Amino acid sequence: MAQAVNGVVAAGRGAKVTVETILVPDPGPGEALVKVQACGVCHTDLHYREGGINDEFPFLLGHEAAGVVEAVGDGVTDLEPGDFVILNWRAVCGSCRSCLRGRPQYCFNTHNAAQPMTLQDGTPLSPALGIGAFAEKTLVHSGQCTKVNPKAPAEVAGLLGCGVMAGIGAAINTGGVTRGDSVAVLGCGGVGDAAIAGARLAGARTIIAVDLEDTKLRWAERFGATHTINAREQDVVEAIRALTEGNGADVVIDAVGRPETFRQAFYARDHAGLAVLVGVPTPDMELELPLIDVFSRGGAVKSSWYGDCLPSRDFPMLIDLYLQGRLDLGAFVSETIGLGDVEKAFEDMHHGRVLRSVVVL
Ligand SMILES: NC(=O)c1ccc[n+]([C@@H]2O[C@H](COP(=O)([O-])OP(=O)(O)OC[C@H]3O[C@@H](n4cnc5c(N)ncnc54)[C@H](O)[C@@H]3O)[C@@H](O)[C@H]2O)c1
Ligand SMILES: [Zn+2]
Ligand SMILES: [Zn+2]
Repeated sequence: MAQAVNGVVAAGRGAKVTVETILVPDPGPGEALVKVQACGVCHTDLHYREGGINDEFPFLLGHEAAGVVEAVGDGVTDLEPGDFVILNWRAVCGSCRSCLRGRPQYCFNTHNAAQPMTLQDGTPLSPALGIGAFAEKTLVHSGQCTKVNPKAPAEVAGLLGCGVMAGIGAAINTGGVTRGDSVAVLGCGGVGDAAIAGARLAGARTIIAVDLEDTKLRWAERFGATHTINAREQDVVEAIRALTEGNGADVVIDAVGRPETFRQAFYARDHAGLAVLVGVPTPDMELELPLIDVFSRGGAVKSSWYGDCLPSRDFPMLIDLYLQGRLDLGAFVSETIGLGDVEKAFEDMHHGRVLRSVVVL
């Protein structure tokens, strides 16, 4: 029987989110019902509610979550009630052409729950990134549940489910940052600071943080930034070059996702360097570049979906690093809030007042 629980719904483009009663079905074959314990507020949730992702309203928002498995459907053998899990949006299929080529991180047929969660009148909800975890309970595909050490608090663990994993992975997996590299990160929100933390973990020597807000730059230093640039006060490309002996950084990560920041990332690279786009642009944004510069500067331009992560490989490993005191996931949590506070958290995020607000249930 479907259970009625509270969830945060975005009803239409730009409309304020509201807490609604939603119906969550019992898990069917391959599915898992998860009691959500914590879910971070990611900029992508705000993109959804602004209609920047698609028009499939109403959305059940929230996708950066950890919780405990309450029940599993038929055929689920690797999970059981009571397991502590981080929810992921990359439950790989194992049989698409990317998976078969040994590149499951590019799987294009990832699994989500087959049954819809609905409003009380039966209207199906589109769960953000196939998760929908600003809710007391959510229904996902069992492959979206990644077991990790339950010693990690849920409000910290859940962050790996999206933004923090995207940032760390943009540096380590997509950017291939390694010992001695110079790295610049544009935009020091949760994703950008995670890229900074990832660059530090990988042994980068110079880590340059760029943001519009001084507060954000101070926070970035806690995660490992060795230098900071306020983009309101300095020419970003010139400043990055000046900090890298006039050369530019080996890897520049755009964690904002706008044409102007990506252009800075493109030009702030050293010759044959790498620009990584992890910030998500909206569909109307366009970029114009002299093709000769694309050619003559060499190197590569890559986008990073979810930090090119493999949840089964990366989540348990990063949780262990956290538990060993080597990755300060706790520093991403600016505040813990209730389900009714998501709209205010969007506003705080928009004004740069928080790194991550985390809904605790
Ligand atoms: N690729 C992925 O898989 C993935 C996953 C999660 C989030 N994202 C995206 O990453 C982006 C960042 O997410 P977040 O949660 O960290 O957001 P956020 O709003 O917390 O952080 C963005 C930061 O960028 C700064 N900023 C804005 N404009 C800037 C500019 N012109 N120059 C320098 N800094 C600027 C802001 O001050 C803020 O500190 C979003 O676009 C989000 O949708 C991507
Ligand atoms: Zn696949
Ligand atoms: Zn996200």
